[in-house]
Amino acid sequence: MGSFSIDVLPNPAHDHDTLLEYSARLKRLRLRALKGDANSFVSKYEHEADQPQDFWLNRLKADRVVHLILTRENEAKPNETFLQKEWVGFVVISVVRNDESSDKATDNLSADEWNMAAVYIEPEVRGQGLGKRLVRATIDYIKGHISTEDNKAAYCLTSVRHGNDNALELYQRLGFRIVNLNEHMEKDGKEYFMTDLRIDIQGEN
Ligand SMILES: CC(C)(COP(=O)(O)OP(=O)(O)OC[C@H]1O[C@@H](n2cnc3c(N)ncnc32)[C@H](O)[C@@H]1OP(=O)(O)O)[C@@H](O)C(=O)NCCC(=O)NCCS
Repeated sequence: MGSFSIDVLPNPAHDHDTLLEYSARLKRLRLRALKGDANSFVSKYEHEADQPQDFWLNRLKADRVVHLILTRENEAKPNETFLQKEWVGFVVISVVRNDESSDKATDNLSADEWNMAAVYIEPEVRGQGLGKRLVRATIDYIKGHISTEDNKAAYCLTSVRHGNDNALELYQRLGFRIVNLNEHMEKDGKEYFMTDLRIDIQGEN
């Protein structure tokens, strides 16, 4: 078993060439996810494979969106940089609402709302705890970025397609609880049934 690390993808990227490289790598991983695990996702390979470069660049440049990247180290080259290492998984975390964006006159909720999506681990490294590490890293990232000053709290939502029991079990083991067993949604003319989950997260202070 190699050694793995999880890094926050820098946003903005250091320069345009680096941004292009990030985008090419994420596109490759994402398309492998949608092709190899089509039943785990609501998005379709055929839809994303046809998207122009801007679609991928905009995903990376989006505000309030964070990509955590799982990398594998080459044991013979322990000092490789982030871009020299192999990318073998990722997760997309986004802030749906926080105190700065909410209208305090109408919204007295004090917890920040986050979302976790697109969790993916390459098939050849599955089953060795990396999915757990990636989801734990997501929770830790949110813990470290809770904006509410006086009442430090947040929650994170995620959804799992019916039938994806591995992911459902993984999230529940890490503290997510089911808030809706049977959410119905439509995308690109197709119907899906989802289980919605939530985890409450306390800030670090
Ligand atoms: C779901 C996924 C991220 C799990 O990654 P992973 O690295 O294999 O997960 P882990 O090794 O950390 O396993 C975590 C838990 O997942 C469950 N799990 C993982 N693989 C499993 C398998 N083959 N059979 C049954 N349960 C499994 C178990 O609960 C396991 O906990 P345990 O090791 O204590 O028994 C990975 O399979 C994946 O990328 N799947 C395709 C995309 C996907 O479904 N994404 C989630 C969308 S909501």
